Amino acid sequence: MEITPRQLKAIQIVCRGFFKNDDGDPLELTDGQAEIFWSIYNPSLQRVQIMTTTQYGKSLTVALSALYTAKRRKAKVAIVAPTDKQGGIIMDYIISHLFDNEFFTKGLIDVTGIEKMRTQKTRDRLVWLDGAEIRVLTVGASNVTAKGLGVMGFHADIIIEDESSLIPDSHHSKVTRMLGGNVRKSKMVKIGNPFFRNHFYNSWHNDRFYKIFIDYKRAIAEGRLTEEFVEEQKTSGMSKEDFGVMYLVQFPDRVADDAVFEYDTVEKTKIAKDFKIDGWRVAGLDLSRGGADATVLTIFEIDDHNLRVLKQYENNETSDSIQVGNWAIDLCIENKVGILGYDALGLGGAIGDYIMNLPEVKFDVVEYKAGNKAVDNNFANIKSQLVFTLRTWSERGQVDFSMCSGQMFIDLLGLNKKRASDRSLRVVDPQDSPDYLDSLLAGLFTVWGGNKVNITVL
Ligand SMILES: Nc1ncnc2c1ncn2[C@@H]1O[C@H](COP(=O)(O)OP(=O)(O)OP(=O)(O)O)[C@@H](O)[C@H]1O
Ligand SMILES: [Mg+2]
Repeated sequence: MEITPRQLKAIQIVCRGFFKNDDGDPLELTDGQAEIFWSIYNPSLQRVQIMTTTQYGKSLTVALSALYTAKRRKAKVAIVAPTDKQGGIIMDYIISHLFDNEFFTKGLIDVTGIEKMRTQKTRDRLVWLDGAEIRVLTVGASNVTAKGLGVMGFHADIIIEDESSLIPDSHHSKVTRMLGGNVRKSKMVKIGNPFFRNHFYNSWHNDRFYKIFIDYKRAIAEGRLTEEFVEEQKTSGMSKEDFGVMYLVQFPDRVADDAVFEYDTVEKTKIAKDFKIDGWRVAGLDLSRGGADATVLTIFEIDDHNLRVLKQYENNETSDSIQVGNWAIDLCIENKVGILGYDALGLGGAIGDYIMNLPEVKFDVVEYKAGNKAVDNNFANIKSQLVFTLRTWSERGQVDFSMCSGQMFIDLLGLNKKRASDRSLRVVDPQDSPDYLDSLLAGLFTVWGGNKVNITVL
């Protein structure tokens, strides 16, 4: 079954009649959005999966169609989101369009609360006298218990998962089971970007699903995105893989699923480059936590475009704070360093204090804490942000590690990544702590740790 041009027009007319845009004018759906709207509304489609480029209007269209479908068909609709924030976005769309037409506010239970609803957008539930109902549920945390949902005693006629791929397999199956008391009768709509090869990947290859696919080219053709915007995203530091997920709407490669640095990228950094760097000379210090790991000092030069490591020093001789501090200071002076970043974990704090307070230290000294909050909230912490920025520079050939210790490349290849349900990326260290890389990161923090970081990974 496919949508016909006439059905498409009809949906667009309905939306113009029932919904308003932010300016109060009739709301226009693009053809692709109208098909998404229809796929939710049409009861003969029982399984639907929609993948589109980011910012296409997925969440808005889901909200509009859920509202219209619930009312028109007196249906119970559950919208499931991976995080509170995501659930909130959908509910905001629903509530702001609830007042577009009397059809939606009539019969709404708790009419006295309607005005409150306009301002206080924390409601997760709309109920009408005729049995229509919309609920927004969040399943991001690990707390989707049978009890939690069972208490609700809510069985949905239509289950819509927004950002479905970010809902883990275990949660997805639980939610489906619990909401669809009679699974065969409930309709399931999954929508989002293809972040993972999980249940979202499986259903995409399942013949029972009606599928809608909209990549950035179609979004441009429909006027939802512009050529310039996409070009800017591509060149602004987004990785190839993220561009694939967000704009080409492709599932990530299985091999690249969790390694941060691909082999080819690391090889690229090994090649000596002839770029001239007109910027700063920086040092990064990672201190031994005793035992097996080493204290490493990395000296590099960097400007807005390029990075070159000049030297890496290792000290295994002592873990005495003062001696290590003096060793680092001498090397910084010898290498005419302008700024030193040091990893402040454990012993680091004491050594940092010592260095900072010596009168002969003329260079700046900056404390770095890997676990601190990232500037860009696409990352779980500052270390992850630094690592992904480094990866982007490396992929683009802006990094010269030809003078690095061989251990540096082992460190890079050992990093894994994890994506949390709020989309943020986290770097996971290999078992042996990557001292060479960490010392570089402590230095990079002094340059990239502020607000000036030029990277976007959605
Ligand atoms: N037909 C339309 N008319 C007016 N505004 C629209 C339309 N479609 C989308 N928008 C606007 O575009 C923006 C993105 O919409 P939405 O949040 O629904 O996209 P999305 O695909 O869910 O994005 P994300 O990938 O970030 O989740 C919103 O500001 C929304 O109001
Ligand atoms: Mg969305």
